[in-house]
Amino acid sequence: MVQLRLVAAAVAAGLLPTVTSAIGLHEAALAAGLEYFGSATDNGELSDSAYLTQLDNTADFGQITPGNSQKWDSTEPSQGSFSFTNGDVIADLADSNGQYLRCHTLVWHNQLPSWVTSGSWTNATLTAALRNHITNVVTHYKGRCIHWDVVNEALNEDGTYRTNIFYTTIGESYIPIAFAAAAAADPDVKLYYNDYNLEYGGSKAAGAQRIVQLVQNAGVKIDGVGLQAHFEVGTVPSRSSLVSVLNGFIALGVEVAYTEADVRIQLPTSATTLAQQAVDFGNLVGSCVDTAPDCVGFTIWDWTDKYSWVPSTFSGYGAALPWDENYVKKPAYNGLLAGLGAATSSSASATATSTTLTTTTTTSSSATSTSTGTAAHWGQCGGNGWTGPTACASPWTCTVINAWYSQCL
Ligand code: XIL
Repeated sequence: MVQLRLVAAAVAAGLLPTVTSAIGLHEAALAAGLEYFGSATDNGELSDSAYLTQLDNTADFGQITPGNSQKWDSTEPSQGSFSFTNGDVIADLADSNGQYLRCHTLVWHNQLPSWVTSGSWTNATLTAALRNHITNVVTHYKGRCIHWDVVNEALNEDGTYRTNIFYTTIGESYIPIAFAAAAAADPDVKLYYNDYNLEYGGSKAAGAQRIVQLVQNAGVKIDGVGLQAHFEVGTVPSRSSLVSVLNGFIALGVEVAYTEADVRIQLPTSATTLAQQAVDFGNLVGSCVDTAPDCVGFTIWDWTDKYSWVPSTFSGYGAALPWDENYVKKPAYNGLLAGLGAATSSSASATATSTTLTTTTTTSSSATSTSTGTAAHWGQCGGNGWTGPTACASPWTCTVINAWYSQCL
């Protein structure tokens, strides 16, 4: 409250310009030229009312992705028998919230039912089963998805094709066959190839470019490449490197999106790793802003650490998302806002701001508050109910993000 009164008084006195008002991630994404900022979700989590309230918050999320319920084992658990109940729950939620639905995923080597993985297939019978699966699922969701991840994770790290039942039985043509079946079932939905570790460029990104061209050369529609963006903290490339990688895809005539972003941290977290995570998320989303409107959106792979897939998948890691397990925003939230260009204060106000809100006695590279009562870069410096430091170490400026959170930026 002291902080808010200080800011209000400073604005009234003409010392500060009007600071950026509270806007959420999706609102900031729209302002930056993206189509959406979104989150994955999953059916089991929806019974948690506090979770659902934030998922429904369209200031932050203008798009959702079902984390599991449109995968092959959910939608066609036995051959020719389709089940859309759980997928429909997420699609209906998107509808009632006015959020876009990214549909995920039609062809993947994981979460396949055993009738697919253990069947005795010929090229012809598996091609028919593949087409039948895609036709039924895409037809069911026709008109409801903005994107379909048609083929997911078809590549090894060196850019060669991953060995899976489809590649082994049909060869690389399973990929254009899948895109053609999806395009026939819903001509309007955008069709994506989706994979991880494309963000580094190199062999795997080159492999994904070859997939785009393989589909295009077959005369089949492919609209986009989804970069999953599953990272360990500190390994995210620079914003300019990410822009180069995105531009490599865009040059082929497709759009791009970050589809499953998370930045995992070896536990326990520290102020340093949480601050680095904020930088990493900011660079990721910033590269999307830099290539908008060809980069169309940014999706995190759920929004709270409570329901992240990371701890059960990467032993010893967690804390990968912008909200912690108690639904409290982490520095990563403001890193995202900053990357979206929303958490800035006017440079014209730097002198007045600095006079009013910061001390210049301490420079700290740590993200924790210092013994002199100043918060470091990315640290919290105010907000409703905040009792910690209200000044920032030099050269950072205490910037109002919203009524509950001001941050040293
Ligand atoms: C993950 C889900 O989040 C988990 O709940 C599930 O157990 C395994 O799959 N790449 C993808 C996603 O494309 O579908 C994966 O989702 C995470 C990695």
